[in-house]
Amino acid sequence: MKKVIVTGGCGFIGSHTVVELQQKGYTVVIADDLSNSTPSVVENIGRITGEKPILEIVDLSDRTACLRFFKVHSDADAVIHFAAAKAVGESVSKPLHYYRNNIGSLLNVLDAMERSSCRTFVFSSSCTVYGQPDHLPVTEQTPRKPACSPYGNTKQVCEDVLADLVASCRTDKGKGGALSGASWKILSLRYFNPIGAHPSALIGELPNGEPNNLMPYITQTAAGIRPLLKVFGNDYPTPDGTPVRDYIHVCDLAEAHVKAMEYMQENGFEGMDCFNLGTGRGYSVLEVIGSFERVTGIKLAYEIAGRRDGDIAQIWADAGKAERLLGWKARRTLDEMTLSAWKWQENLQKKI
Ligand code: UD1
Repeated sequence: MKKVIVTGGCGFIGSHTVVELQQKGYTVVIADDLSNSTPSVVENIGRITGEKPILEIVDLSDRTACLRFFKVHSDADAVIHFAAAKAVGESVSKPLHYYRNNIGSLLNVLDAMERSSCRTFVFSSSCTVYGQPDHLPVTEQTPRKPACSPYGNTKQVCEDVLADLVASCRTDKGKGGALSGASWKILSLRYFNPIGAHPSALIGELPNGEPNNLMPYITQTAAGIRPLLKVFGNDYPTPDGTPVRDYIHVCDLAEAHVKAMEYMQENGFEGMDCFNLGTGRGYSVLEVIGSFERVTGIKLAYEIAGRRDGDIAQIWADAGKAERLLGWKARRTLDEMTLSAWKWQENLQKKI
């Protein structure tokens, strides 16, 4: 297997996955509309790997453009689909944009793949599909809860679309119906909280405007771009009262994508499966701040504020299934995550 299409490959997780793919010898074609990224990411990936990936600027929610792109790259062996909008708050104010963009793009990509012989697909899902689970840690069997936002809803609906697609092929087969090619091989990867950056500090998270997520808010506050970090609530039923999440280094996550893709190719896998991608341990907001202050030596300006709407108290993964089946385990520590995020932020500052 040689050629992989990475949609959203200029984004945070996508760019790290492109690096990992190239370093494993794959040829990568990125499809990205650059709505939340810049083409300089491709230059920086090239500086890390020694080879610039191909970038096609394409809006995959535009059906004609999507079909055209896939026709040109009909020799691809697999698709890793990151392209989607991901700001939870924005999804509440622009639900139609989120449904059209996230679900529409997925449908177009699958349609385009049906017209080719490529059936290997990795989907970017999220632990948001579990809501606040009744039992921790969450396994892949933990029931999904109704989504708290249009963004979360799009992840659930996309997973349902994929499951229905796989089921339709099975039904077709049972009836002896005509199938348009081989069976689908689909993995949905449910990420916990990806943070950190590549050790080169050449790629990382680049939020548009004021960050929503904790880690970029911390690094921007430390850099003096934001005056103060607000800790959203310290009255949760957790050890220090602040919410607990399973933070995972983006480079560990990138490695998991390549393992997932290879797993489908090498094991006679057919159909669809889901994997939790986390470390299996949770840290509170104050623990993340503590780690950041310790590894950087910077005293962070923060205050305790009210709870943020829609936040859950705590979640962390049972990541055992990925270890058993994919042979993948997150290796990097919280200190490595916070330090690499800071090095990336520092590098960005130098360019201003
Ligand atoms: C959010 C999304 C989730 C998405 C994930 C991507 C929600 C409800 N969920 O997860 O669907 O997959 O991002 O990484 O938004 N915090 C602060 N101050 C801040 C920012 C965050 O205290 O300025 C706290 C939050 O209350 C939370 C923790 O930091 O407890 C992590 O927040 P965040 O990075 O936004 O991720 P999630 O909300 O867990």
